Amino acid sequence: MSMAHYYLLGRSGLRVSRLALGTMNFGTGGFHAAYGKTEDEARPIFRRYLEAGGNFIDTADFYTAGESETILGNLVAEAGVRDRVVLTTKFTNSVDPGDPNAGGNGRKHMIRALEASLRRLRTDHVDLFLLHTWDRITPVEEVMRTFDDLTRAGKIRYAGLSDVPSWYAARAQTLAEAHSLAPLVSLQLPYSLVDRTIELEHVAMGQTLGLGITAWSPLGSGFLTGKYRRADQGLSGTGRLSGDGAAGHAWTEREWELLAALESVAGELGRPMAQVALNWVATRPGIASAIVGASSAEQLDANLAALDFELPAESRERLDAASAVPPGSVYRMFTPAYQSWLVNPGVKVADKPAGYAPAVRNWTPGDAA
Ligand SMILES: NC(=O)c1ccc[n+]([C@@H]2O[C@H](COP(=O)([O-])OP(=O)(O)OC[C@H]3O[C@@H](n4cnc5c(N)ncnc54)[C@H](OP(=O)(O)O)[C@@H]3O)[C@@H](O)[C@H]2O)c1
Repeated sequence: MSMAHYYLLGRSGLRVSRLALGTMNFGTGGFHAAYGKTEDEARPIFRRYLEAGGNFIDTADFYTAGESETILGNLVAEAGVRDRVVLTTKFTNSVDPGDPNAGGNGRKHMIRALEASLRRLRTDHVDLFLLHTWDRITPVEEVMRTFDDLTRAGKIRYAGLSDVPSWYAARAQTLAEAHSLAPLVSLQLPYSLVDRTIELEHVAMGQTLGLGITAWSPLGSGFLTGKYRRADQGLSGTGRLSGDGAAGHAWTEREWELLAALESVAGELGRPMAQVALNWVATRPGIASAIVGASSAEQLDANLAALDFELPAESRERLDAASAVPPGSVYRMFTPAYQSWLVNPGVKVADKPAGYAPAVRNWTPGDAA
């Protein structure tokens, strides 16, 4: 039922599913080869997502060295759903090591990357084109002007950013507003019960400037499914994080305690841990969609039921508390506790009274049909 509901992405008219399909593991080449899937293995995952009503699909030129886009292009054409799906791809990472303009966010690479993506995806436009990672040096004006040109040329429908500092996204969007350039509509960022860092800056920025956040690795690359257990050498269990998959990541006491809290809540609700973790992500403030990754149609099926139930307030509070990272440094001063102590002592001050119409009013399932 929940997959039959579509929402506007950020401050745009683009209707998307709250659970998007990630295809980083479609293909067997390049960086993601270790857990990649062939086209025949990817097909049932893709088909299952469509059958469930999903319309929001994520890839990047860099995934499996371009194979993800090629497979997706074939699957979309085969299913005859090009107009029905919201196809998202990204540029930034180099496609030709040694050539300084084969990577980064300069205009030359942006256009070259998009043309190559369109060829692999077998389409003449993408619906959402994202800058994959801040390259630290390209002027933001150049990126925004190129997004605008590509929009006017009909090669992209909407633009957005992934993995950028919040100040960069705020500056980009403000430039777009000031110069009437195509606005950014989305931000793709890591977000899950094991990684809530974006709450410090990005979430409020996205809400203020009309950028719908799409959460990547909402299951912490599979950690939150509960299929891994603590072991002397990190973790045991079978999946992407076993073997060398989690190399470099030291699992902390806090993460294992969080997992125990998630397991307990999931047990009480009679739901798989993955569904509870996805439900939590997708229903947090500022989150437009969670990008779900799956190794099989069975995994996807289980994950797509994540929004078929409501997380009780008490369960949510326990998950919030177990996953919370106490704000440090200047962020301490923005907490409700600090504000009511020094900024507004003795009075209750809020942005708007309950029921005061916000600038953009979206339909919600509770509204009259
Ligand atoms: N913008 C970026 O920088 C960026 C970065 C990363 C990802 N992304 C996007 O986000 C998408 C999702 O990322 P992700 O794959 O890291 O997401 P994730 O949801 O955190 O992890 C997905 C993985 O967890 C395991 N899993 C999922 N459901 C399961 C279930 N029900 N039971 C057991 N295991 C399950 C599977 O791996 P195994 O079966 O192999 O264990 C699956 O591939 C990607 O495809 C990509 O589109 C974007």
